[in-house]
Amino acid sequence: EANVDYIAVLVLDLRGEEVLYRRTPVDVPGLGAQRTLDELARAIRSAVAELRDGGRDVAGVTVALPGMVETTPGVLRHAPNIGWQQVQVADELTARLAAADGDDGTARVACPIRVDNDANLSALAEYVMGSSAGVADLVHLTGETGVGGGVIADGQLLRGTQGFGGEIGHMPIGNPSQPCGCGRFGCWETAVGLAALLREVADPDDTTITDPSVDLDIRLAEIRRRAELGDGRTLRGLEAIGTALGLGAAILVDLLNPRVIALGGYFAVLGDFFLHAMETELDKRVVLPGRGGCRIVLSSLGFRAACRGGAHVALEAVLTDPASV
Ligand code: BGC
Ligand code: NA
Ligand code: ZN
Repeated sequence: EANVDYIAVLVLDLRGEEVLYRRTPVDVPGLGAQRTLDELARAIRSAVAELRDGGRDVAGVTVALPGMVETTPGVLRHAPNIGWQQVQVADELTARLAAADGDDGTARVACPIRVDNDANLSALAEYVMGSSAGVADLVHLTGETGVGGGVIADGQLLRGTQGFGGEIGHMPIGNPSQPCGCGRFGCWETAVGLAALLREVADPDDTTITDPSVDLDIRLAEIRRRAELGDGRTLRGLEAIGTALGLGAAILVDLLNPRVIALGGYFAVLGDFFLHAMETELDKRVVLPGRGGCRIVLSSLGFRAACRGGAHVALEAVLTDPASV
């Protein structure tokens, strides 16, 4: 079964308003790093060509990646679910973007390129423009193929010594017999990531939900529809996800005492069906009285959070140093 993921391009204008959003399914593990970078460059170059046609231009680009990123010099150290190791993303992309305008309707791009972890950018977006804007202590959980984390502590993104802080998808609190994309067993994301969801709710007689060639939005909408109809398998599956989420959330609450845990990615789409199970487990496991005042919220940014965070970072750089453009 092909592991199809996506490339999403989002453009914000200088006021922070969304100008363009496009998501294309791409078999990233199948293509490998170099050809995926070709696709990524093409996606950026054609978005920029479209902007220029409309009389606009691009001032900065940030790439959100599903793995451990050294933001300087822009290297992806390890991305568990797509199998990338040690990829010089910033340099590779800068070279591809610098090529002259193509006759395939793509444009040369010469602005600064930044690279960061998708979940860290999502947390930043949640803090700056999400439903939890201004909440100085929050954790954002991204439910995708992998499960990502971003921690805002005291109004700052927590990065740690090497910049890899927030890798909570690989906390070893899942079933120890479940293999994870990182090569280990029993990681949290094997219990709550997209693959776990699909495994839990899959109907052996109907592959609509598990067919990777069907758009993810459609598959999630179908799961929602079944949950709304009260389908037992679907509801039990979502409850199992909620319980497993509550266990990990208890660790985060005791460790960080956040005001908010915001749920993004597919968690935001289906969360209303597992929030109860999640909170029940959280309250059972947590030691802080009243779970330290923590609220669980569904992020309004959904799957767009990482892109939004990236655009915000680029925008900040432009606003603080207009000469850099
Ligand atoms: C990766 C994280 C990433 C998350 C969501 C995890 O498997 O280790 O770096 O943020 O997936 O994409
Ligand atoms: Na992270
Ligand atoms: Zn893992």
